[in-house]
Amino acid sequence: MYPEKRMRRLRRRRLLPLFTEHHLRTDQLIAPLFVDEEAAAPVPIASMPGQARQTMDSVGEAAARLYAAGIRAVLLFGIPRTKDAAASSAYDETGVVQEAVRRVRAEVPNLVVITDVCACEYTDTGQCGIVGDCADGGPDLLNDESLALMQRIAVSHARAGADIVAPSCMLDGMVQAIRSALDAAGFEETLIMAYSSKFASALYGPFREAADSGCSCGERSTYQISPANGREAFVEPSLDAAEGADVLMVKPAGPYLDVIARVRTLDLPVAAYQVSGEYAMIRAAAERGWLDERAAALESLLAIRRAGADLIITYFAEDAARWLAEDA
Ligand code: PBG
Ligand code: ZN
Repeated sequence: MYPEKRMRRLRRRRLLPLFTEHHLRTDQLIAPLFVDEEAAAPVPIASMPGQARQTMDSVGEAAARLYAAGIRAVLLFGIPRTKDAAASSAYDETGVVQEAVRRVRAEVPNLVVITDVCACEYTDTGQCGIVGDCADGGPDLLNDESLALMQRIAVSHARAGADIVAPSCMLDGMVQAIRSALDAAGFEETLIMAYSSKFASALYGPFREAADSGCSCGERSTYQISPANGREAFVEPSLDAAEGADVLMVKPAGPYLDVIARVRTLDLPVAAYQVSGEYAMIRAAAERGWLDERAAALESLLAIRRAGADLIITYFAEDAARWLAEDA
């Protein structure tokens, strides 16, 4: 077709903005926030440079700073004072996340507060729920026993004022169980953002240091999806949609763009979680001078948008907000 068809015509400097297919906006970003019940001052997270565990007293301020930068939603994780087999600190009405939700809501009423609903930061085993011996031998997460725990956690978060609960345990039936518990407790308006396509990924490594949720018994591959399985990663969100999920999530994001594109066809809002390892890889390379951090981070986020994500949970949220404002 050449010379009639010249694709470079579309790329002339002055015309380029007209033909830009996808955009990254600050209000599409969700910032994770870690809250440490015991910390007296914010504690930097070594495996995630630039991130820190907030204290009960600093989390409201951190949220206010994000809101001032243009971020409209945060995802809260708690590091509790005590852990036990039943994860009882996870549904304590005065627990770390419940209290943090109240502080953030009081400080920044317009910020959307999302909570991670899982037990791995609250169990002494580091497992995501109640553990027993499974048929294959060895410890395993018990599905139906753990559902009741997730219901209690989700309702306690809603009662504290969470707008959206985000169950991340990959239990079968978790969305339906949580929806019915929320409705029964009078929280029909609380949304569920389901970690639907959650892979058993090596890229959660830095997070486990950040949230002190290292797994000391069994492993997570009996409930998280194998990185080899794309079809399965589409069935999961289809089921979650049928069970009443309001938002579907794919996690990690960058290595799973094919999954994001496929989940997009379900016609529910799609969130993608650019996880700790994705952040750490870019940060570490940038620290060595091997990558331009700003360019690499913004490219990674735009690619996730292009694949079909409406929202991106990212540790770059605050930096990206600044970079995007500079560009505007
Ligand atoms: C589970 C949870 C995890 C992450 C978010 N929610 C850890 C896991 O499943 O092991 C990982 C997020 C990240 O790596 O940034 N509560
Ligand atoms: Zn978990």
